[in-house]
Amino acid sequence: MYKKFVQYVQELYKSEDFIPLHAPYFAGNEKKYLEECIDTTFVSSVGKFVDRFEQMMEDYTGATRAVVCVNGTNALHLALELVGVKAGDEVITQALTFIATANAISYANAIPVFIDVDKDTLGLSPKAVEDWLKNNSEVRDGTCFNKETGRRIKACIPMHTFGHPVHLDELIRICKQYHIELIEDAAESLGSFYKGKHTGTFGQIGILSFNGNKTITTGGGGMLLFQDKGLGDYAKHLSTQAKVPHRWEFVHDHVGYNYRMPNVNAALGCAQMEKIDDILKNKRETARLYEEYCTKNGLQFVKEPDGCSSNYWLNAIILDNREQREEFLEYTNSNKVMTRPIWALMNKLEMFKKCQTDSLINTQWLEDRVVNIPSSVRV
Ligand SMILES: Cc1ncc(COP(=O)(O)O)c(C=O)c1O
Repeated sequence: MYKKFVQYVQELYKSEDFIPLHAPYFAGNEKKYLEECIDTTFVSSVGKFVDRFEQMMEDYTGATRAVVCVNGTNALHLALELVGVKAGDEVITQALTFIATANAISYANAIPVFIDVDKDTLGLSPKAVEDWLKNNSEVRDGTCFNKETGRRIKACIPMHTFGHPVHLDELIRICKQYHIELIEDAAESLGSFYKGKHTGTFGQIGILSFNGNKTITTGGGGMLLFQDKGLGDYAKHLSTQAKVPHRWEFVHDHVGYNYRMPNVNAALGCAQMEKIDDILKNKRETARLYEEYCTKNGLQFVKEPDGCSSNYWLNAIILDNREQREEFLEYTNSNKVMTRPIWALMNKLEMFKKCQTDSLINTQWLEDRVVNIPSSVRV
């Protein structure tokens, strides 16, 4: 079955050369806009593409305010600071995520608590979060505390794995009930909608990533999405070294960050956003073809959850067990078809070994079985 799979991917991508997991796709105004940056000398953190890219993202996602960042990881860091996470606070998230989610919590000197995921979304499970909070927390004067550690539980970061939205309605309800701020790690889910609304616009803040392997890329880049315009404007201020606007004075009113996205990167972003509908359509068709292939060949394909429209950023299959996973990875990667297991669990990494978890039953089950398969735009 491994050989047949390799042949199928080669047919799909019309290539017998190395087939990557996810390559960038440039088919529009990228070069033109980059040249414009160079010709006008506006290559750095000020320029019309920065404003335009933010506007395009507000129009596309429905966010009230979008603020560009250097990457998704520092967007997450800033989001944690903006919702009031302080040193020593705890932040609930999933163990099944890319390291950036947990790293950003560490940058804020906070401590992650790793809770299980749902098998249908691969993302944070509302039921598991609620069960854990019921048994491990208490709310005093409108603040949630961990009964065992005594620490404040300030925020919760669900992640929309591979672009599949988590069960947001339930998570919003639970976070409200326990007075916990919701930040969506939507790094992987540009173009994914939950009940018709764009992911990243449900929590107090959502973040996106435009790393080279994402649905659209700016080389490196990220974005913060806000419903509260004032908070968004403050994010812009913090990401700009908290400089008080003035034509010549250098006065700063806070410890700020140099997290601004340069105009050259935003130029790429504008050109990419002009093509987002074509990109998503192409990826959706690839997912449909993979699903058809998997159904015919007894493989389990990861589909969008009910009520959602996923971007199918990275397609994934679920194999029978860890042994089969290893065989599949070995065969495909030895035959020029790039495949990759889902991330090693956060709670197993040296830095996060001591963090609290729940049973992580689904998380462990998925870690043993999930593999990503080539998902670039087909040209
Ligand atoms: C789930 C998740 N969170 C955060 C990030 C961080 O984004 P960046 O690489 O732009 O820092 C990524 C992607 O790289 C990601 O996949």
